[in-house]
Order: sequence, then C-alpha cells, then structure tokens
Amino acid sequence: MPELPVLDHDSVLAAVSPAQAIERVRAAFLRFTDGEWTMPSKVYLDSPPFGDFRAMPARGDGLALLKWVTSFPGNPSRGLPTVTGVICLSDARNGEPLMLLDARSVTALRTGAVAAVAARALAPADARTAAIIGCGLHGAWTARCLAAAGYGPGVCHDPRPEAAQALASELGWSVGDRVDALGCDLICCITPGSEVVIDASDLRPGQHLNMLGADGPGKAEATVGAVESCTLFCDEWEQASHGGELMGAVRDGIVTRRQVTELGAVLAGTAPGRGSAEEVTLFDSTGLAIQDLAIAQAALESWREGRIDAQTISL
Ligand SMILES: NC(=O)c1ccc[n+]([C@@H]2O[C@H](COP(=O)([O-])OP(=O)(O)OC[C@H]3O[C@@H](n4cnc5c(N)ncnc54)[C@H](O)[C@@H]3O)[C@@H](O)[C@H]2O)c1
Repeated sequence: MPELPVLDHDSVLAAVSPAQAIERVRAAFLRFTDGEWTMPSKVYLDSPPFGDFRAMPARGDGLALLKWVTSFPGNPSRGLPTVTGVICLSDARNGEPLMLLDARSVTALRTGAVAAVAARALAPADARTAAIIGCGLHGAWTARCLAAAGYGPGVCHDPRPEAAQALASELGWSVGDRVDALGCDLICCITPGSEVVIDASDLRPGQHLNMLGADGPGKAEATVGAVESCTLFCDEWEQASHGGELMGAVRDGIVTRRQVTELGAVLAGTAPGRGSAEEVTLFDSTGLAIQDLAIAQAALESWREGRIDAQTISL
C-alpha cells in the first residue's frame, strides 16, 4: 500500500482558496444535477445528549469519499469544536484510499462556498451588503467566501461580541445588532439552530436568505411563517425536507416538494431562480457530501501538483 497523505486543518485551507471553493462547489452541484456525481442520503447517528454523528458518502470523477463528522452543539462550552471529524478520499475504480483530510476545514470551506454560490444565483444582481448572524466557525467561512465573491461590506452579529468583532475586523465589516443585520441585502444565518432568529415581519422585499445553521432534525433559525413568506430553494430536497430549515413547514403541510427548487436546477438553467426583484428568496443549506467531494478533489489536485505539503502515513 503506498503512503497515504493526510491533510490537517491548515493544509486544507492552504490547498483550496475561498474563490476556488466557490467555483468547485458550483461545478459539483451541476455534476450532481446531471447525474454524473452521486450521493446517497447522509446517515445520522445520534449521540445523546451531546449531538450527532453524520456519515456522508459521495462519488464522482473517479473518486469516492466518506465524511465522518459531528454536530455537537455543547462542545464550544468545553473548548471543543461543534464540527469535527475525518474524510477519506478513495479511488473509485480500485478502492485505494488516496488521502485523509480534516473534516472541519473542508466542511467550513464548502459551507461558506455554497452560501456564495446561492447568493450569486438567487440574490438580486445589485445585492451587496451581507449579514452574518452567528459568527462561529461556519459563520466566519461564510463571510470569507461572500467577501471572495465580491459581497460586502457586511454586518457581523453574535451574542458573543468578541466573535462578531474578530470577524468584522478581519474583513473590514462592522459589528451590529440583529436589526442592523436584518437590514442587509443578503442574510446568512449560521447559529446552532436552537432558537429562531428570523420572523416574517423581519424581512423586506428583494432580500436573499441563506439558512445554513439548521442542518439536522429539530433545528430551525426561522419561523414557519418566515419560511412560508419566501420563494424557496434548497440544496437537496430529501435532506432539506427531513432535517433542514424547511422541515417545520413541510411537517405542518404548509410547504410541499412542488414549492421548493433545488439549487442545482437553477444553476443548470432547468428551473427558474428569483422571479422578481421584490420577492424574498430563501436557500436552505443542509450540507451535501458532493460539496465535500468538490473540496477534497481540489485539495488532492493541489497536493499532486506540489502546491502543498502533507504528512504521510502507511496503513
Ligand atoms: N448547512 C451546512 O452545510 C452546515 C455545515 C456545518 C455546520 N452547520 C451547522 O451550523 C451551525 C453552526 O456551526 P458552527 O460550527 O459555526 O458553530 P459555532 O459554535 O462555531 O458557531 C455558532 C455561533 O452562533 C452564535 N449564536 C448562538 N445563538 C445565536 C443567536 N441567537 N444569534 C446570533 N448568533 C448566535 C454563537 O455565539 C456562535 O458564535 C451548527 O448548527 C452546525 O450544525 C451547517
């Protein structure tokens, strides 16, 4: 068995820039929509009362990937990350493991990247200002990717003032309260999803919402009324309707499959995106393994081209 490269957190981020991540994640949605890339539904393994593990496989371009990752909301209070785990990237033709990657950095990068992809596809062309509600790990990468996509200045909002301030200082954005944040053209919610941060009365015409924090059963960042008032998009219907921001409205029979468009179809031009300058669009991101595959593939290429170093192990 040849030596297996292992990319730690910093190596992943050195291997793939936010701009590349955006381009790769966009392409992954197109390949998935075409049927060239495949992905079974993610499997949740509850670990009460701490959180849950997710097993997320995907295959495409001769590669196969498995991400084994957590969402443990109480971890930050113990000085540990909410999201942590490992990705194994293999050769899809002979099964050989090709690379192990830190799952936290890949997840952060691909989650931020999809926010930029969705904003470009669904927000009005003149949208500029961006709110980050929840300035933890994924909020920070969402802001970095939006900035790389040309959005900003933005408002950083978080009950932890130091988190909001650090992100605002890094990007030259400002710190604001919830009302300041809700005044932006793009609103990205990336809180733990344990309390609602958006109601229908908070929204104004033409806004675009990226709902990123509610990525599992029982989480929500918007009221059912807010969801109902928007034109709805998601990353993947099965996942979003069972464990995302749309779940409450689907459960109550207020939203059905017919009312929700998948992002890949909009990118491919087979379904309409925003219908008017006035409507409020909402993109529900639950996080797809094809996004992870997009980043892992780019990281593998970067290592093979000698642009980054990696530690190696033999199995
Ligand atoms: N959609 C996806 O693909 C995807 C990917 C990864 C993580 N997630 C989810 O995103 C969420 C955040 O993950 P993280 O790793 O960034 O967590 P984190 O703990 O690093 O950050 C969460 C931040 O939200 C802040 N916050 C809490 N309540 C808030 C409120 N009411 N208003 C504003 N801010 C508030 C916290 O202070 C913290 O800074 C989790 O639920 C996680 O499961 C989604």
